[in-house]
Order: sequence, then structure tokens, then C-alpha cells
Amino acid sequence: MKNIAVLASGTGSNAAAIMDRFIGYEDIFVSLVASNNPEAGVLEKAAERGVPTSTFTKSQLNDEEFMTELLRGIDVVVLAGFLLKIPAFLVREFEGRMINIHPALLPKYGGKGMYGEHVHKAVIENEDKETGITIHYVSENYDEGDIILSETVSLSQRDTPKTAALKVQKLEHKHLPEVVKKLARSL
Ligand code: GRF
Repeated sequence: MKNIAVLASGTGSNAAAIMDRFIGYEDIFVSLVASNNPEAGVLEKAAERGVPTSTFTKSQLNDEEFMTELLRGIDVVVLAGFLLKIPAFLVREFEGRMINIHPALLPKYGGKGMYGEHVHKAVIENEDKETGITIHYVSENYDEGDIILSETVSLSQRDTPKTAALKVQKLEHKHLPEVVKKLARSL
């Protein structure tokens, strides 16, 4: 049995896609959804599905004892719209077992401040012909770990940041659970 934890700061549509994907699995179990934001929609989505939830402050995230206890027994950590920087001790502890999803084709549109609609606005402003998703291992720097998967979708002149976001979200919900499954089964 592999236990998955999802860390998220926002709505949690990706967390929901992961939770829904593994319903009925005997070898993969989403056993925790945790957030730094007590108001995050992701907590409600987890509660609706009977998945245990937890919240933590920024200083608790940086407290090794606290996080080691919170993530005890977890095999894979998925960052799905998690906005705080992961401390070095967690990066080390979960090396090769912690992944992030980014709503653009890294290394373009990565780094601090490049999240959510900021990414899609920049892509449209630059008149890019395509956008996509990147799923990568987590390293100590934002959006810089080794890439596991990137998937592209084309953009037309009619696309707006909103429609680009929808195209990207579709890719995310399709591919993130698959990557989690492969990673969990490889451990
Ligand atoms: C996703 O676009 C993900 O790529 C990014 O944050 C967003 C989270 O969306 N890292 P949701 O909360 O899963 O709906």
C-alpha cells in the first residue's frame, strides 16, 4: 500500500482528480490533504470525500519535527497548487517522491510569482502558439526539479488567459493522476 499526501493552497481541482482516480485502488491510497490556507477549497473537497485533512502555518511547514510527524507514513507527496516554498529538509526527505505540477511548459513561465492566471496572461501576451503542463520532481528552487512529463496543447489567436487556463486544466486532470500512479507503483 502506498500512501499519497496532497499539499495545496487553493481550489483543489487537481487534488480532487487525484482523490477520485484512486477510489477503489488497493495499492494506492490518498491518506492526507493538507493546506497552509484554512480557507482553501481543497479542504472541503477532501472532507466531502472522507479524506483526512490538516492545516499548517508557514512556520510549521519549516519545522522539521512538525512536518515529519504530519507526513509520517507518506510515500508520495504531490504539490497541487501549493504556493509556499518547500524547506530543504523536506526536499531531502522526499527526494524522488515529491512532485509538483506547473501550468506551463517549463522552463518557460516558471519561478516566483508565476502561478495561476499570471502564467496564462503572460503566455497570451507573448502570443505563444502553444502552452501546456509540466510535472516535475521538487527541488529547493521553484519549478526547477527534473521534469517527469510535459504535455502541450495548441493555442489560437482567439484564446484568452481564461480559455488557455481551461485547456491547461484539462491536461492537468488527465495526466497528474497517471504520473502519481506510476511513481507510487515504482517505489
Ligand atoms: C494548477 O494549475 C497547478 O498547475 C498549479 O496550481 C493550479 C492549482 O489548481 N500549480 P487547483 O487548485 O488544483 O484547481
